[in-house]
Amino acid sequence: MKGNVIVGQSGGPTAVINSSLAGVFRTAIDRGANKVYGMRYGIQGLLDEKYVDLSDYIKNELDVEILKRTPSAFLGTCRYKLPAIHEDQDVYERIFEILDKLNIECFIYIGGNDSMDTIKKLSDYAILKGHPQKFVGVPKTIDNDLALTDHTPGFGSACKYIATSIKEVIRDGNGFSYNKQLVTIIEIMGRNAGWLTGAAALAKGEDCEGVDLIYLPEVAFDLEAFTEEVRELLKVKSTVFVAISEGIRLADGTYVSEAGGGSGYVDAFGHKQLTGSANYLASMINNELGCKTRAVEFSSLQRSASHLASRVDINEAFMVGGAAVKAADEGDSGKMVVIDRVSDDPYQSATGVYDVHKIANDEKLVPRNWINEKGTYVTNEFIDYVRPLIQGDYPCVMVNGLPRHLYLR
Ligand code: F6P
Repeated sequence: MKGNVIVGQSGGPTAVINSSLAGVFRTAIDRGANKVYGMRYGIQGLLDEKYVDLSDYIKNELDVEILKRTPSAFLGTCRYKLPAIHEDQDVYERIFEILDKLNIECFIYIGGNDSMDTIKKLSDYAILKGHPQKFVGVPKTIDNDLALTDHTPGFGSACKYIATSIKEVIRDGNGFSYNKQLVTIIEIMGRNAGWLTGAAALAKGEDCEGVDLIYLPEVAFDLEAFTEEVRELLKVKSTVFVAISEGIRLADGTYVSEAGGGSGYVDAFGHKQLTGSANYLASMINNELGCKTRAVEFSSLQRSASHLASRVDINEAFMVGGAAVKAADEGDSGKMVVIDRVSDDPYQSATGVYDVHKIANDEKLVPRNWINEKGTYVTNEFIDYVRPLIQGDYPCVMVNGLPRHLYLR
């Protein structure tokens, strides 16, 4: 590689997005990049010429190791939608002016389906105007809703946190169950895809009864049927645990979170902020059935719990970062790195590259046949798919009793 590399992070962060950043940095240096720049706050920050030289912050192997274990986006992230090329070329001219000034050869963007829209538009523009830079995307999202990749980095660690925390919530609730009924409703992120919520099923095992009901956004949610399910369960047990996706919707398409008031916030890609469904349903069950209820919203904890990251996930996140640099250096552009599952037992994966036009802005949902007929739990096939992704741990570097993070001031 003769020129420089620039890398950005975009969209909702994960526990392992910085492991991908570390993978990009390491491979770029190994392949002879002179400088590896990091965009501050993704493409939005780059437009304001906000970037750093990553060598100023990643100085040795220990920094690489700490970065891999640091949650959230080290460089800062954004939810910024580039205009369509025919709508506004000035913004593209500005970006390419900055890339030329920094002698950028490879532009790497770590993100989800909205972020791949940026790779798609920039690579299209480069071809249209004959710019030499190569643009490659690195998959990332706890939602696991990217097409054409077996799964996305960030998903496995979020699943591990969710299953672990649900086991703990169940222990907590069952400890109080003498002569008392309790319904606990746990709200899990994932927007319109139920992958992460389905991972609640992993909590069940020899030492844990698991959750009783799981509701994904792929199946319309019925308030009355739900109340009846809970009523029936309370006839035979005193504690009921329910996992719901933040994105569950009524038959008419209204998000349950909106029915409960919602937040009203909408981002640049038109996504509504989904929050408050567990609270709404917990109050409803309390009113209808008169029992004690509790709402648990994992919120940002589920995507930032690097103390519980899965080893498979951290290693794959690092691997896809490196693979993106290799692909761009070898001439690929307008592509995203994908993870292919090579085998389940032992679990093995490899990387490939795919046309980003087939991935950007698309949402991969849980197949209907991986959800039971009533829409109240996931199938064994779903569980077999997720379980390998939560395996192994990656111990934090502990200082004064707490995990050490690499931090960009
Ligand atoms: O896309 C990742 C994600 O964590 C979704 O699961 C969630 O709905 C969304 O981001 C929340 O985004 P924000 O933090 O911008 O509100």
